[in-house]
Amino acid sequence: MSTSTERHRAPTGPADTLPLRGGVQIPVLGLGVFRSPAGRATRQAVTAALDVGYRHIDTAAVYGNEADVGHGLRDNGLDRDQVFITTKVWNADHGYQSTLDAFERSRRLLGVDHVDLYLIHWPVPGIRLETWRAMEHLLETGKARAIGVSNYMVHHLEELLDHAQHLPSVNQIELSPYNYGSRADVIDLSRKNGIQVEPYSPLTKGRKLDDPPLVRTAAAHQRSTAQVLIRWALQHDLVALPKSTHADRIAGNADVFDFTLTDTEMETLDALDENLVTGWDPTTTP
Ligand SMILES: NC(=O)c1ccc[n+]([C@@H]2O[C@H](COP(=O)([O-])OP(=O)(O)OC[C@H]3O[C@@H](n4cnc5c(N)ncnc54)[C@H](OP(=O)(O)O)[C@@H]3O)[C@@H](O)[C@H]2O)c1
Repeated sequence: MSTSTERHRAPTGPADTLPLRGGVQIPVLGLGVFRSPAGRATRQAVTAALDVGYRHIDTAAVYGNEADVGHGLRDNGLDRDQVFITTKVWNADHGYQSTLDAFERSRRLLGVDHVDLYLIHWPVPGIRLETWRAMEHLLETGKARAIGVSNYMVHHLEELLDHAQHLPSVNQIELSPYNYGSRADVIDLSRKNGIQVEPYSPLTKGRKLDDPPLVRTAAAHQRSTAQVLIRWALQHDLVALPKSTHADRIAGNADVFDFTLTDTEMETLDALDENLVTGWDPTTTP
């Protein structure tokens, strides 16, 4: 894995940012809300995250909780421009007009006048380039400050790079030490084209939190294994999106800015690659 394009500047807190194209800044840590139940649980998770310094929430139309994310934002009382909100167009809404309509539904549910980052959730075959034209329209009209893709592997990205008027700002893919090596090709292609990589399921959906090499690294720093996985992502200049609905975990997952993994520890973690896929596998989507 090439690390030549990494910045090697340690972020100082959850609101610290990385640059996206077009002068947009994205906070390095975001709260994920996949499987965060609609209603009070999501609203409270968002509030708890904003209270401890998160300034970035990652939702999606298909999660069914955009309205609760919006309520959580307003409960907190922060100015709109202080919080970075990502949402995504779902597979059933691909196509030019249906993407514009889906965006409008998401925008209204969130209760915002613009979205900071709008993503194609999945590279649906046959129609995704038409969807991208709608994404470009949303960018050009200022409804989305940045646009991007999710679950795009090399072949999806190459197709888009060949046809796009505006390149994506972000590629959100499943990423942790357990598949980092296996995703080297798409990470390198993204970086070469100025596309910020955002790991989803950075905590492996909880599956690897008791893995002995990870436990040993965490013990060496007197940290939790979740904190080590988030720190690993940040030290690779990745934007991490851990999900939790528990206030104590939400706070702990953001308490990762006062320790540093050594180069040897980073290499040990990178070597845990086993091509882990915890959800759908985008490599098999044509
Ligand atoms: N674009 C896509 O296709 C896609 C796919 C998947 C996910 N995502 C995004 O990425 C976000 C994160 O991914 P994810 O939700 O799949 O999984 P994840 O963040 O890797 O893991 C979440 C799981 O870990 C638990 N957890 C959180 N903090 C913990 C801690 N400190 N100690 C122990 N357990 C902890 C959570 O439980 P509790 O909630 O009970 O604490 C939950 O079961 C999503 O919420 C979503 O925003 C995007």
